[in-house]
Amino acid sequence: MKVAVYPGSFDPITKGHLDIIERSSRIFDEVIVSVLINVDKNNLFTTEERVELIKKVVKPYKNVKVESFNGLLVNYMKEKQSNVIIKGLRALSDFEYEFQMALMNNKLDPSIETVFMMTNSQYSFISSSSIKQVAKFGGCLKDLVPDEIIKDILNKFRGD
Ligand code: PNS
Repeated sequence: MKVAVYPGSFDPITKGHLDIIERSSRIFDEVIVSVLINVDKNNLFTTEERVELIKKVVKPYKNVKVESFNGLLVNYMKEKQSNVIIKGLRALSDFEYEFQMALMNNKLDPSIETVFMMTNSQYSFISSSSIKQVAKFGGCLKDLVPDEIIKDILNKFRGD
């Protein structure tokens, strides 16, 4: 069984992320979407909330699981018996950072491959950080994040 891991911050999950999940679920037997537990970062949602938001939107994909991980991704990959990391690429500006991470992960564990998926052009401008800005100042989130989680994001800014 070919298991792939799609790691990230997902603060929050966007339509661009969901597109990558949907497409990879058609290629691999199982896809584990895994949220990095990052205590230093100024996240809007807690790890548990981010996991719950992702779970809400991946329900239609029966071979997709949602988890969180701590520490080095390569160690988590070993634990999950997976050697494929999935990453999405939106623009050239993503490349340098992603290239460095892919080489570092491969150096730490040469059995690991990073598979890059080009974003769907309709989502290429979407990032979690821009979504937070739009939401903070009352902009429309339709087509940026999955419909099922728009309310959760707006509530977060209202302090509910
Ligand atoms: O969505 P992001 O923030 O681009 O995701 C980055 C992520 C979580 C994939 C990356 O920060 C990560 O893998 N962190 C775990 C620590 C690690 O393994 N570092 C070594 C690779 S440089």
